[in-house]
Amino acid sequence: MNPMSKKFISFKLDYPVYTLDKRLFLPAGKELTSEALDELIATNMDTSYQTLPFLEYGTVYDDILRLLQDPPYHAIFDEPKRKIALNLMKKINFIPPILESLEYFKENDFYTYRHTLMVFAISTIMARDLLEKSEDWIMEAMAGTIHDYGKICIPLQILNKSDSLTRTDRSILEHHALAGFVVLSYLLKDHRSFAARVAKEHHERRDGSGYPLAISLRDKMVEIIAVCDVYDALLSPRPYRPIAYDNRTALEEIIEMAQGGKLSWDVVQTLVSHSRKDRPHFRECKLSTEKRGKPPAENLYGIIVEKEG
Ligand SMILES: [Fe+2]
Ligand SMILES: [Fe+2]
Repeated sequence: MNPMSKKFISFKLDYPVYTLDKRLFLPAGKELTSEALDELIATNMDTSYQTLPFLEYGTVYDDILRLLQDPPYHAIFDEPKRKIALNLMKKINFIPPILESLEYFKENDFYTYRHTLMVFAISTIMARDLLEKSEDWIMEAMAGTIHDYGKICIPLQILNKSDSLTRTDRSILEHHALAGFVVLSYLLKDHRSFAARVAKEHHERRDGSGYPLAISLRDKMVEIIAVCDVYDALLSPRPYRPIAYDNRTALEEIIEMAQGGKLSWDVVQTLVSHSRKDRPHFRECKLSTEKRGKPPAENLYGIIVEKEG
């Protein structure tokens, strides 16, 4: 265990945490430390721990296959790469409460469903480039699928809101990071598990400008998932942004974030190398900081309205 990680586990929940079936799990205001989490985990009496293959759950396999053939992912995932990604995904199993969240998102918030599948696919391929021992990272890469698990606690009217968010909406939305951490720690019976950590840290940044705890992101696999998370979010049409970023403009935004010290430069280099037609090795992939793309005009992301209610 990273000796620093204990220090970071001390926070207060601003909003309640719910389970997938909408039972109150922890109330707002609850203070959590490593010890309090251990006590909470000890109350999990589920001994079955039966896991099921992720790719065989519901329509996951067909959905991934179809989504990887949509632009711009079709350019990254040529047939050999699709095969590699799917073969790696075959090794992943989840416990039923985690798989059931996929069904929940598919029905209620298709963006999050699609997003989790794509973040997993692209982070798997990038981890293959950047991390050496595949035995170590395959299990870690699966965290890409559940990084937004905490969105089960966020009201659907906020997740699907097509107007600008209010400050309160924004802070409720940001609650998904700690909420996901708490529920996954409980379900996986380990608050030090990588999946729980990714749920907590995927919105943190290298320069400490992220949320929820404003720590400085340093773990390579978490950084890979953080970069893929931003990339896929930009490429997706959202309720507040009917037109998505095109691939080039999305990559330019991400390069700018890396240049500003928010994201890891080599992770971004790897991402860009997958989009280049000549497929350079990521270390030889030169990043241009010139901005030529045009962000979509109707984009309400990051615009906060003062009016509440
Ligand atoms: Fe997130
Ligand atoms: Fe995400």
